[in-house]
Amino acid sequence: MKLNLKSLLTASAIAFITLSMSHTITASKADGMNTEKKNGSFKAGNGTFLLNGEPYVVKAAELHYPRIPRPYWDQRIKLCKALGMNTICLYTFWNSHEPREGAFDFSGQNDLREFIKLCDANGMKVILRPGPYVCAEWEMGGLPWWLLKKKDIKLRENDPYFLERVDIFQKAVADEVGDLTVADGGPIIMVQVENEYGSYGTDKPYVANIRDMLRKNFGDDVTLFQCDWSSNFTKNGLDDLIWTMNFGTGANIDQQFRKLKELRPESPLMCSEFWSGWFDKWGANHETRPSADMIKGIDEMLSKGISFSLYMTHGGTNWGHWAGANSPGYAPDVTSYDYDAPISESGQVTPKYMDLRNTLAKYNDGKKLPAIPATIKPVEVKEFRFETVAPLFANLPEGKKSRDIKTMEELDQGFGSILYRTTLPELKDGGLLTVNEPHDYVQVFVDDRYVGTIDRRLGEKSLMFPSCRKDARLDILVEAMGRINFGRAIKDFKGITENVTVTEDRNGYTFTCDLKNWEIFNLEDTPDFYESMEYLPVGAFTKDADGRLPRGVYKGTFSVNKPSDTFLNFETWGKGLVYVNGHPIGRIWEIGPQQTLYMPGCWLRKGENEIMVFDIIGPKEAKSEGLKTPMIDNLNIRKPVIHREDGENLDLSGERSILSASFETGNGWQEFKFDAPAEGRWVCLEAVNSIDGEEVASIAELYLLDEDGNRISRESWTVFYADSEETKRSNHAADKIFDLQESTYWSTKKGDPFPHSVVIDLGSDKKISGIQYLPRMESEVPGAIKDFNVYVSDSPFRK
Ligand code: GLA
Repeated sequence: MKLNLKSLLTASAIAFITLSMSHTITASKADGMNTEKKNGSFKAGNGTFLLNGEPYVVKAAELHYPRIPRPYWDQRIKLCKALGMNTICLYTFWNSHEPREGAFDFSGQNDLREFIKLCDANGMKVILRPGPYVCAEWEMGGLPWWLLKKKDIKLRENDPYFLERVDIFQKAVADEVGDLTVADGGPIIMVQVENEYGSYGTDKPYVANIRDMLRKNFGDDVTLFQCDWSSNFTKNGLDDLIWTMNFGTGANIDQQFRKLKELRPESPLMCSEFWSGWFDKWGANHETRPSADMIKGIDEMLSKGISFSLYMTHGGTNWGHWAGANSPGYAPDVTSYDYDAPISESGQVTPKYMDLRNTLAKYNDGKKLPAIPATIKPVEVKEFRFETVAPLFANLPEGKKSRDIKTMEELDQGFGSILYRTTLPELKDGGLLTVNEPHDYVQVFVDDRYVGTIDRRLGEKSLMFPSCRKDARLDILVEAMGRINFGRAIKDFKGITENVTVTEDRNGYTFTCDLKNWEIFNLEDTPDFYESMEYLPVGAFTKDADGRLPRGVYKGTFSVNKPSDTFLNFETWGKGLVYVNGHPIGRIWEIGPQQTLYMPGCWLRKGENEIMVFDIIGPKEAKSEGLKTPMIDNLNIRKPVIHREDGENLDLSGERSILSASFETGNGWQEFKFDAPAEGRWVCLEAVNSIDGEEVASIAELYLLDEDGNRISRESWTVFYADSEETKRSNHAADKIFDLQESTYWSTKKGDPFPHSVVIDLGSDKKISGIQYLPRMESEVPGAIKDFNVYVSDSPFRK
C-alpha cells in the first residue's frame, strides 16, 4: 500500500509544499518509484519533439485504465507495445476519482499511479490528460454529478466554486503521480490542459486558469499542451502551450495541419486524437471505420515525422452507469466502448491490429517489435435461469414529500432511477400528460396500470392519458441514463427538471393543471438498495399482456469450472443494469445494438457466481448464458432512423430560393452570405449536383448565421425532412449535420438521384444572413456538393 501523504501532512503543510516544491513531496512516495533516475526532459524543438534532447516521434496508444479490468492492465499495455507504440495516452475521470465531494478514490480500478508504473515498467512513456473535463463518452465528460447540487454553477468557466473544486482535484492527481514526470525520471512526458475547449466556447482566461493550476501542482518543468480541432484551435490557444490537433481516420492530414503550420512554422506536429473508430449509441448501428483509412493516415503521419495518439487503441468498457451521452438532442452511449479499435473490448487482436502492427514495424528504427502477448480466449457458459425477483413497486424505499418536483441532484442522488407519485384530478375524457423535461427514460402508471413511455432520446415529452377517476394515483418512473458529455448541454440534471402538467379539453375549454404535492422515491443505483429488497421465486409471477415478467431486481447464480472471459447474453431482457459478484458490468437495453455484456473472467470465481439484474421494463425470459463472441451489432428497433415517411416527397414548387450558388472543391469550411437577411423557422438546403459527378450528396456540418454574422445555436434543431439517408449499415442520418462533430456526416444512399434536400426545423423563427458548410474531411471529399439552393420559410415546407 502506497503512503497516503494527505493523512500524514496537515492541510496547510500540503498547500505550502505543493505550491513551492511539488516534486519534493512526491519523491518520498513509499513505493520508491523512479527516485533514482533524474532530470529527463521532454520539450518542443524545431519541428520535432525532443526527449532528453533527442528528436522523438510520439506513437501513443490511448487507453483508459478505469475501462479495463485491473488484472488485465499489464497485458493491454503489452499489446500496445507489441503493436509498435512507445507511449500510453490516458484521461483521468474526475467523477470516478471523487465520487462524493471531498472523498477521493485512487484504489483498485482507479489506481492511476499503479497504471502509470505499469506503463513505465513496460518501457512506455505516458501522456496524462487530467481534464477537468475530458468528454470521452464518459458520464458528464468526467465531471462529478455533485457539482450540479449548486444549481447555478457554471461548468468549465471561471465560476469560483467550479475552479475551487478543480484545483482540489488537480492537487489530488498531482499528489498521486506528480513525481512521475520525465523531469523526475518518470514516464510522463506531457500533461494536457482542458480538452477541446474550442468546441465548448471561447474563454482564454479560464483555460489559462487550468494551465496555472497544473503548473502549480505539477511544477514548472512539466510540458503542457492543448488539443483542439484545426477549425477552432485559435479560439483558446495560449501562447506558451503546445498546440495539437484532433481528427479522424480518412481526414486530409495536410489540410488538418495547414493553419498550425502557418501560425507556428517551427512547431512539432501531433494529432492528439486520431480516431480509429467511433462510439456506439443505443438505437443506432454499431460504428466501424475501415482499417485501410487508419493505416493510410498513420503511415502518412509517420513518413512526415508527425506524432500521434490513436484514440482508441483499446476502448474497453463503460462499466456500471459510467457511459455518457451526446447532444444536441440526447443520444446515450452503450456499455461497450469497443470503438472498432485495433484491440477489441475483450483484449483480442483484430485484423486492424495486425495491419497496424505491420505499418508501425516500418518505423521502429530497424528493431523487431516485441512478440504479441497471449490473449484470453472467451468461453461459453451454459444457459442459466434467474431464481428470485424483488418486484420494484413492492420494494420502494421510504418516500420524501415535496410540493414541487425536485431533480435527483436536489435530493442528493447521483445515479439510478427515481419515482414521482401524486394524485390526479378527474379526467372524464382523458388528457395530455406533459413532463418538463424528462431525463431520461420515463414510464407512466395510473392506479398501477402502465400507460406509456416517454423517451428523451426520441425528443418525446408528452403522452395521451386514458380517462381516470378523481384522486387516481399517478406514478412516473424515471430512469437516468448517462449525463451528456459534449457541448453546452453537459449541465444535465436528472429526473424531472421542472414540472408535470395535465391538459384536458372540457366543454370547449382547455384546462391545464400543474401537478403538485409529490411523494418522491430515490431508487439509487447502489448494492445497498438492491439488497434491501424482499425476493420471491420468479415462478410465482405470470407474464403481462406484453409477455413480460415484473419490473424489478432479478437474482440468479451460474457456475463456471475455470473462470475465463465470456459475453453474457441479455437478448430476452428489457432495460437496466447488471451486477456480477458485486461488479457493476453495465447497462442493457433491448433496442441494441449491444445485446451482450463483456464479462471479464478475472471477476468470476470457480464454482458459483452471483448475478443481479435491475430491469425497469421487465424481461421476457429471466435467463442468460455466456457466449464466445459479443453481440454489439444487433439493432432491434422497428424502423431505422430516417426523416422521411413512406410516400413523402418535398415539394419546392412555388418556393423562392434565397440563395443559389456553387460550393468550391476541397476540404474546409465555406461561407456564403445572403443578399439580405431572411426570416423563418424552416430552412431547406437543396443539393442540385455533386462535384465528382457521383450520385451521392454529403455534409459534415452546417451552420446558419444570424444578422451579425455569428453562428446560430443548433441546440433546438431537428430534421424536418431528408430525401435520402444512408442508415442501413452505418449512421449517416441527416442530423449528423448539426451534431457538433466534424468527422461524422449526413450521406444520401449511393445511387439515389439528385437533387437531394434536407430541411431543418430551427424550433423558432430566426433571422438568417448566411450559411457555413463543411464537406467531408477526406482529401477526395466524397459527396461534395456543387450547385445548391437555400430556401427559408416561416411555415413547414409541403412534403
Ligand atoms: C473528442 C474528445 C474525446 C472523445 C472523442 C470521440 O475528440 O476529445 O474525448 O470524446 O471526441 O470519441
